[in-house]
Amino acid sequence: MSAFPPDFVWGAATAAFQIEGALTEDGREPSIWDAFDGITTGETGAEACDHYHRSAEDVGHLAELGVNAYRFSLSWPRIMPGGRIERRGLDFYSRLADALLERGITPYATLYHWDLPQRLEDEGGWRDRDTAHRFAEYAAAAGAALGDRIGHWITLNEPWCSAFLGHETGEHAPGRTSREEALTAAHHLNLAHGLAARLLPGRVGVTHNLHVFRGEPEAVRRADAIGNRIFTGPQLEGAYPRDLLDDTASVTDWAFVRDGDERTARAPLDFLGVNYYAPHHLDGGDPAVPVTDMGWPIEPSGLTELLTRLAREHPGLPLIITENGAAFPEPVHDARRIGYLRGHLQAVLDAREAGADVRGYFVWSLLDNFEWSHGYSRRFGIIHVDYATQRRTWKESAHWYRGIISSGNPGT
Ligand code: NOJ
Repeated sequence: MSAFPPDFVWGAATAAFQIEGALTEDGREPSIWDAFDGITTGETGAEACDHYHRSAEDVGHLAELGVNAYRFSLSWPRIMPGGRIERRGLDFYSRLADALLERGITPYATLYHWDLPQRLEDEGGWRDRDTAHRFAEYAAAAGAALGDRIGHWITLNEPWCSAFLGHETGEHAPGRTSREEALTAAHHLNLAHGLAARLLPGRVGVTHNLHVFRGEPEAVRRADAIGNRIFTGPQLEGAYPRDLLDDTASVTDWAFVRDGDERTARAPLDFLGVNYYAPHHLDGGDPAVPVTDMGWPIEPSGLTELLTRLAREHPGLPLIITENGAAFPEPVHDARRIGYLRGHLQAVLDAREAGADVRGYFVWSLLDNFEWSHGYSRRFGIIHVDYATQRRTWKESAHWYRGIISSGNPGT
């Protein structure tokens, strides 16, 4: 039976706004998610998992799990409120990095996990080219302050969501509803990635929610252009795909793309971060397939398909699963989550056997947390959080994951 190699990266992932709370402490300024009024439960990130005050305890849980890596995000509004470096914000992440290294856990820092300073949104946010330059300044500041201890960087998390859920469907902050704005934002995110990637010390990657579309070929081609290749085109090949420009010609002439931007977006990368949860059925899908609490179908084969496609189209680029996991409500006996994780780890092994260079896997998420527009109503953690007491309790999946990490084998 195949297993993961001893040097495999085993991790857990979180993001600043989803776990930290402490939104007004140590000089932090508001982000677009502080201001967003589209959270269906009416909840806020004010307290979240109170991780800002409990990071030592949370690092203890990571150490107990036996992970050798932890993916978290840095908060731009903590580090550069008002556009100036805030030492207290940096210090929080500096202490976190030290605590991780002391326990033998490699930090993977994401620079942008959706918490744009509201101040920059007021000036046009990702619709404005300047935001890409502001992001590069922030990346440079973070790299200079933390690069002696943080050696793995992820520029952007799921820029497709920032562009399209934030600007076309309005489901995410800043809650706008224009396809033209979404395309403009996508370009400025590509530019931001390319500018920042060149300024970071150590190993640099980017994380995408690359979609696996299933359906009729022409529908799949169109969805793939606007859902995937709008980012992988410039970032991995240095150009927007021709069919995307044609498909969107009635919406925009892409005049916001300046000479050299696509080359800038194609920064050298040390790894590609892949977030995978479920495939997308353009024509409905099979209602008999079980779904998670998000309503997402459980189909691990989509992950194998995605990884083998990436290996074929971008040979030589190491792949890391930077998120995979499932929302289920059970507080402790989460057998369905174990089933989900086991199936997807097996899918990663299958892809490796087929030749995909997958180097690591981060479970989403270490803790139950603030699930964006769903508030706290969806629980992705392998560790349960009682939000009234902030007590953390290991679910069965956490015990199971610890066993997998130590054996390197997801079992049957
Ligand atoms: C991807 C996002 O990066 C993360 O923030 C979110 O919680 C998970 N998907 C689950 O929806």
